Amino acid sequence: MSRRVAVIAGDGAGPEVVTEARKTVDALDLDLTWHDLPWGTDHYHEHGAMMPADALDVVRQFDAVLLGAVGHPSVPDHITLWGLLLPLRQGLDLWANLRPARLLDGIPSKLDGRPKVDMLFVRENTEGEYSGVGGRAHQNLELEVGIETSVFTRAGVRRVIAYAFELAEQRRGVVTSATKSNASRYGYVLWDEVAEEVAAEHPDVKLERVLVDALAARMVANPSSLDVVVASNLFGDVLTDIAAVLQGGMGMAASASVAPGSASPPVFEPVHGSAPDIAGRGIANPMGAIWSAALMLDTLGEGEASQRLMRALEAVARDGPKTGDVGGTASTAEVGDAIAERARNG
Ligand code: NAD
Ligand code: IPM
Ligand code: MN
Repeated sequence: MSRRVAVIAGDGAGPEVVTEARKTVDALDLDLTWHDLPWGTDHYHEHGAMMPADALDVVRQFDAVLLGAVGHPSVPDHITLWGLLLPLRQGLDLWANLRPARLLDGIPSKLDGRPKVDMLFVRENTEGEYSGVGGRAHQNLELEVGIETSVFTRAGVRRVIAYAFELAEQRRGVVTSATKSNASRYGYVLWDEVAEEVAAEHPDVKLERVLVDALAARMVANPSSLDVVVASNLFGDVLTDIAAVLQGGMGMAASASVAPGSASPPVFEPVHGSAPDIAGRGIANPMGAIWSAALMLDTLGEGEASQRLMRALEAVARDGPKTGDVGGTASTAEVGDAIAERARNG
């Protein structure tokens, strides 16, 4: 069946890594077409909005979205991100953000002793600290106040924790749930209660409840002790940048925003941002974007092609060429070419 993928290459290094991800998927010779949506900061400067008003209806016509990154120094980040990425995740109700963190052979470890890193983060993706509820009063006065409200719903918490348990059943059978239910008395306490309820329905999976500060330390001190981690939107965001570094760096990490069982097109993107400090130089690591494309193929029912692409990515991680952030000297395009070549012949 023909698949139609919308591409939001976005800003900065986004288009650079998305070009390589497309190249590697094209090498697999699938029945899949790309459709560029020229949304992002250039669109904002031209039209006063990051994407058109009917953007959600537009993307609903596709089977998936491949996204690069959004954000540019010329526009405040809360405008760009609340103008594109967050409305997509929320508007399509893509409630789970999957972020695998695996240290591949050949990728230098940042930790002594090269511990095994193989975790799967399941990040709540539509509410929590990112609900967008809040406001400012007394603006520009001495007594100005900014209020940012976390919203945790029982249904929203339950669906993401239940999904984490289902995923853990196919892995090593441990779910670590991150909260801060000692200092925060409401939302995270509800989260903990729901986690215990879901755990009771999955006697084959072990639940660990860990406070997020201790979990951040444990990720560095003993990463191999972690299997599936389920976390709120903000905690999942912070922990997955740590996880990215544990798997070699920001350029390595992949993500999928999904809503299993719904008709919404899932969104696949690297974990990193638009990397303005290196954008335009052709040196960004495309592996996180390519890994995200492999997640996309799996979700689209192309499991075999997905595995072929992952095998190609793993071979190039092992043998090179690699970009500077993971110990090589190659350009973004050279890495993409090498993975495409391996995928074509794999
Ligand atoms: P960032 O992830 O863009 O960069 C952090 C560091 O990681 C930088 O030193 C960068 O050079 C490095 N890095 C990132 N991607 C890399 C790659 N592919 N290869 C090698 N090195 C890489 O985070 P930031 O600097 O905090 O944010 C920059 C902009 O991106 C901001 O506007 C932010 O809001 C936005 N952002 C967007 C997304 C997204 O669209 N999904 C995600 C994170 C940040
Ligand atoms: C990510 C990013 C986004 C997030 C930002 C850019 C809004 O950091 O996907 O990790 O916090 O979700
Ligand atoms: Mn992030």
